[in-house]
Amino acid sequence: MKTIRVSLEDRSYAIHIGSGVLRSLPRLIRANGLGRVAIIITTPRVHRLLGRLVSGELRRAGVDIHILEVPDTEKSKSADEALRLIEKITRLEKSRKVFLVALGGGVVGDLTGFVAAIYKRGIPYIQIPTTLLAQIDSSIGGKTAVDTAFGKNLIGAFHQPRLVLSDTRLLKTLPRRQILSGLAEGIKYGAIHDASFFAFIEKAIDQILALEPGATSRLIETSSRIKAGIVSRDERDTKDARIILNFGHTFGHAVEAASRFKITHGEAVAIGMVLACRLSEKLGLLDAASARRVSRLIQKAGLPATIPSFVKTASILKALAHDKKFSRGKTRFVCLTRIGQTRIKENVSPALIQNLIKER
Ligand code: GLY
Repeated sequence: MKTIRVSLEDRSYAIHIGSGVLRSLPRLIRANGLGRVAIIITTPRVHRLLGRLVSGELRRAGVDIHILEVPDTEKSKSADEALRLIEKITRLEKSRKVFLVALGGGVVGDLTGFVAAIYKRGIPYIQIPTTLLAQIDSSIGGKTAVDTAFGKNLIGAFHQPRLVLSDTRLLKTLPRRQILSGLAEGIKYGAIHDASFFAFIEKAIDQILALEPGATSRLIETSSRIKAGIVSRDERDTKDARIILNFGHTFGHAVEAASRFKITHGEAVAIGMVLACRLSEKLGLLDAASARRVSRLIQKAGLPATIPSFVKTASILKALAHDKKFSRGKTRFVCLTRIGQTRIKENVSPALIQNLIKER
């Protein structure tokens, strides 16, 4: 088991990674004094696959368990769903101290964290991420939110989990497309922060795709360490440290929205990273060989490196125009100067971005 610390004074917590780390749950629950009643929030599918395993471990910690299901869709990240959960939690709480357990992917993690942040002005929660994307990225950092009809993550709060347990055994039942979605974020961590980690992914790509435990753990562990370091420096996203996490995301979000969410977040980020490398090249920041290395790894992983033909150029440009920062001409792009190093470019001309999309 590998343990990584997110250092945030009294909000510090540990991320435990490895095959079988769930077995440490009873000890960790007791050590963290988390409460007497655990309310697990999950989806029907994850409940069916992992509910018994996780409940068994929690029971060994001597806590009472309740399981609440939410539908397995992005639509669950809504204020209505959060209020529905709060009503149920209120009925279950009685007089004993409750904590929440987010058992699932990014939607469950963000929703559970949000409910934990607002219920009684904040109760403890832990993250047991079950997708590679959530283990690599979204379970760490304490940004919690729900979507509204006007946009994603519009209602939210900062609320750090008390513990993150990334058990690589839980990934076995994941569809390949979901594995790839997480891998894209792993490639991002190498590209923005750690050239040797990037080279490791290049070398170990087949083992990672086969979910070989050693390679998978190293992927999650190094990504988590990088994210933990960034979050520790900039918990509330006010000091410009977190911005590098957006590498590939401005383009990615626009392509994702223009595809009407037919491509996964990771696929969109993969395309976005290739576009961000091309932008870096055009701005004279990145050499062509490094840009090619990024797109070659993305392709080798089985991720898309170009915008799919069914996604219209006009729709991407429209999605970008909806990006408030972009339309005000104040767009800041995360560029690469080499693999493992970023440079933020202010006021990139919208025409340059538009041409890049038009070239596809
Ligand atoms: N919960 C994700 C983040 O804080 O970045």
